[in-house]
Amino acid sequence: MKSKEKYLQDLRQWLHDTSGSQLEEMSDFFSKRLDGYEEHMSVWEESYKLFAELLPFQCRKILDLGCGTGLELDHIWQKDPAIEVTGVDLCQSMLDKLSEKHSDRHLVTVCQDYFRYDIGCEKWDAIISFESLHHFLPERKGKLYQKIHNGLKKGGVFLLGDYIACCDEEEELLRSVYLEKRKQSLIPDKNFVHFDIPLTLEHESRLLQNAGFIIEKILDNPDGATIITAKKGDKNYGLQSKNI
Ligand SMILES: C[S@@+](CC[C@H](N)C(=O)[O-])C[C@H]1O[C@@H](n2cnc3c(N)ncnc32)[C@H](O)[C@@H]1O
Repeated sequence: MKSKEKYLQDLRQWLHDTSGSQLEEMSDFFSKRLDGYEEHMSVWEESYKLFAELLPFQCRKILDLGCGTGLELDHIWQKDPAIEVTGVDLCQSMLDKLSEKHSDRHLVTVCQDYFRYDIGCEKWDAIISFESLHHFLPERKGKLYQKIHNGLKKGGVFLLGDYIACCDEEEELLRSVYLEKRKQSLIPDKNFVHFDIPLTLEHESRLLQNAGFIIEKILDNPDGATIITAKKGDKNYGLQSKNI
């Protein structure tokens, strides 16, 4: 594992090397890379397995936000082939691949922005999202987390697997570059672009807690996705953390 200093040095160098590159629209970004996508993401294999293991056994109906081609769902359906999934994604070609792979499962796909999707009220046993929400500012995510909390049945779980910033410096650096690039290219607020703006674990956890979640478990993985199990509840914000 790299030291934090080396990691930040490499990140600064990469931002410098790519400073002239244009931001790409989110859905176009993934459509263009569909062919190599699953191979590119295979480095996360262990995180996908862990993610599926952490989904509670009694779940029947789950909502996957930013499901893409469903790499997390491949493992979830291996564990329980009867689970009913609604997968929401902006990118139709990613959803088409997911449907092709899993034509024999209970699957509904919705090509829509998940911030606009009607999650409903006390409808889902679990809501999951893997490697998608780190593309958005906390102001936008906080409102979504409230909708997710509202959409879960009592005792339901929000399982989040995502890229987490290693420190405030990483979070602030990426946020400032992101905002500057958007400003330079005059990109309206409503347009989504592909650029990573992860939060630190502290800030991500606080957003979830502010939406009413109890953080049950955190698998903090510096070399893979960090996985957070957040349960629907009102108070008693306990925190358990385990390094993997
Ligand atoms: C890195 S991929 C992850 C896909 C899948 N969860 C996985 O781990 O293989 C991120 C996905 O989030 C989707 N996405 C990003 N922003 C979205 C939004 N606002 N609404 C719906 N989907 C979104 C992208 O289209 C893309 O398929």
